[in-house]
Amino acid sequence: MFFLAKSAELCYDTIMDMNEILKQLPAPLLAWYRENARDLPWRRTRDPYRIWVSEIMLQQTRVVAVLGYYDRFLKAFPTVRALAEAPEEQLLKCWEGLGYYSRARNLQKAANVIVNEHGGAFPETYEALLKLPGIGEYTAGAIASSALAQPVPAVDGNVLRVVSRITNCYDDVADLKVRKRFRNEIAEIFPEEEAAIRIFNQALMELGATVCVPNGAPKCANCPAAGLCEARKRGTWAELPVKAPKKERRVEEKTVFLLFQKGRIALRKRENKGLLAGLWEFPNVPGRLDEAQAQSALRDWGVTAGEWKKQLAAKHIFTHVEWHMSGYVLDAAGNGPSDFFWADLETLKTLAVPSAFARYYQEAVQTLSE
Ligand code: ADE
Ligand code: SF4
Repeated sequence: MFFLAKSAELCYDTIMDMNEILKQLPAPLLAWYRENARDLPWRRTRDPYRIWVSEIMLQQTRVVAVLGYYDRFLKAFPTVRALAEAPEEQLLKCWEGLGYYSRARNLQKAANVIVNEHGGAFPETYEALLKLPGIGEYTAGAIASSALAQPVPAVDGNVLRVVSRITNCYDDVADLKVRKRFRNEIAEIFPEEEAAIRIFNQALMELGATVCVPNGAPKCANCPAAGLCEARKRGTWAELPVKAPKKERRVEEKTVFLLFQKGRIALRKRENKGLLAGLWEFPNVPGRLDEAQAQSALRDWGVTAGEWKKQLAAKHIFTHVEWHMSGYVLDAAGNGPSDFFWADLETLKTLAVPSAFARYYQEAVQTLSE
């Protein structure tokens, strides 16, 4: 893979193949790790259960904080089976103070899967690990490599920082495509010898956690990658990694109308492109309309309002947009525009109405059932 200048997709300011640089890394990195790694309890075991527990605890919590919990947790629940059988109260008590309690619940959920579907035997492959609740690519990679000696990358924030600096790569590490490429690059340089496989991910992380640190200057003088690091050569470490801030979601206000007429309700089909393309929706207009404005919107549609029954607010969150909806429920007369479709209860149930309108759909079904 070559990185050429001025492409948004590719690294710039380096004309070297990422692999050309990275392939020089494993030897000095592994030697450094063997001499300098912190002695942490989960590095003294090959028990996948114990390594799994440590990786889950470390997900949103610093090493020093985890140290206070790890041994106690494993004393309370020394095996997958013990964890599966633990009363929830005891489990949460052991987790108290670590935060993000869904991690503990997912641990137990996964323990139950292991007991009930794998006869209590810990899954033995990366792919099988990925299927467990609470285990994503990173965690599966960490367990598979450390415990099972499978050569699978585990790319966390530490690794992204280290790799982007060593290769002087300015690609946005918040971008999933970029992360995937980093992952592939690491897979290419993964060692083949068992003992090295078990520590390679740990070593990359350790370098990021203790030498090529996230806050403040990296300790390049002590770094095993100093001889090959492009960011060091060019003095660019402060600019790396590039991480685009998450875009804030746009908020869209909408006013939704539930128009009832003789046992039917008005719907219309959304455009064939864009968000929720081609699905059915209740007639709506942009903005939060007060009752007078709502009256006027109805007049524009050629609909006459009868009894105004109630207002109904709802919110729906998409990846890039939030809909904040206010709604009016009323009896109406007149056909409305040609794209209005008046559905009775049976027909309504056959239409694909997206869950963004769930609250209104429920109300429609209930009213039409009365
Ligand atoms: N952070 C995530 N996993 C870790 C590990 N195994 N050792 C130290 N820090 C970590
Ligand atoms: Fe990070 Fe410096 Fe090592 Fe490069 S030489 S990887 S910038 S600590």
